[in-house]
Amino acid sequence: MNINSYKAFFTKEYLMGPNSLKLLHELITNAPDAIPGGYVLDLGCGTGVTSLFLAKETRAEKVFATDLWVDATSNWQRAQSWEQQHKLIPIHADAHTLPFANGFFQSIVSVDAYHYFGCEEGLFASKILPLLAPGGSILLAMPGIRDEAMQSAPLMQEWAGEEAALFHSPAWWVQHLTSEAEGIAIKAYESAHFQEVWEDWFATGHEYAMNDKAFIDRGLRDMLTFVMLEVRMSR
Ligand SMILES: C[S@@+](CC[C@H](N)C(=O)[O-])C[C@H]1O[C@@H](n2cnc3c(N)ncnc32)[C@H](O)[C@@H]1O
Repeated sequence: MNINSYKAFFTKEYLMGPNSLKLLHELITNAPDAIPGGYVLDLGCGTGVTSLFLAKETRAEKVFATDLWVDATSNWQRAQSWEQQHKLIPIHADAHTLPFANGFFQSIVSVDAYHYFGCEEGLFASKILPLLAPGGSILLAMPGIRDEAMQSAPLMQEWAGEEAALFHSPAWWVQHLTSEAEGIAIKAYESAHFQEVWEDWFATGHEYAMNDKAFIDRGLRDMLTFVMLEVRMSR
């Protein structure tokens, strides 16, 4: 699993934020048994680069590359150009109304996307967890804050506006998910590659990346973190 062989994807054509491939690599490195095979849901997959990584670097049988803002046709075209059409299944869907059977997935992965819908009360227990097979795992990486008090900091508000409400601390996420669901165990940590994944995003030259860089340099760096969660469902 050599992350550097994916360097061609560290561009504004593929990345939609801090380097999702490196975040996924970190999640999998820390939980090598989380994707033992079977069907994998890549929820909020964007342009599908994380789905490509899952298809090529793990034992996943099929990867369901599911996204709302990016249409299934463009992800299908990319899957074909990567010669992964036998493994990647692009789906256009909203996390609130996912078109999958309960217990279908051995693993669910979401990189830099779960906070957009997952803060919502009850969504995890009613829409996400039921899709997981007994004994399955969920790996999540999302931008967050070191401390809940930082959500209302003026700089955070200026940068994220209403979306500041989607940023939470690792402890908040653990409490949020465990309060809804029984029979799960969660390991939470902060990404060890915070600086690097943001630097890769800035290096794409994307106009949003340039805006993010200005805020990070003004002090946002001291407030933000990348929350990494490993959720295991008991059998
Ligand atoms: C910042 S992008 C990250 C994309 C990709 N995971 C990556 O890291 O490159 C956030 C993604 O979350 C997806 N998303 C946001 N709300 C969603 C929802 N309600 N259902 C499904 N996907 C959603 C968007 O479509 C978008 O592609």
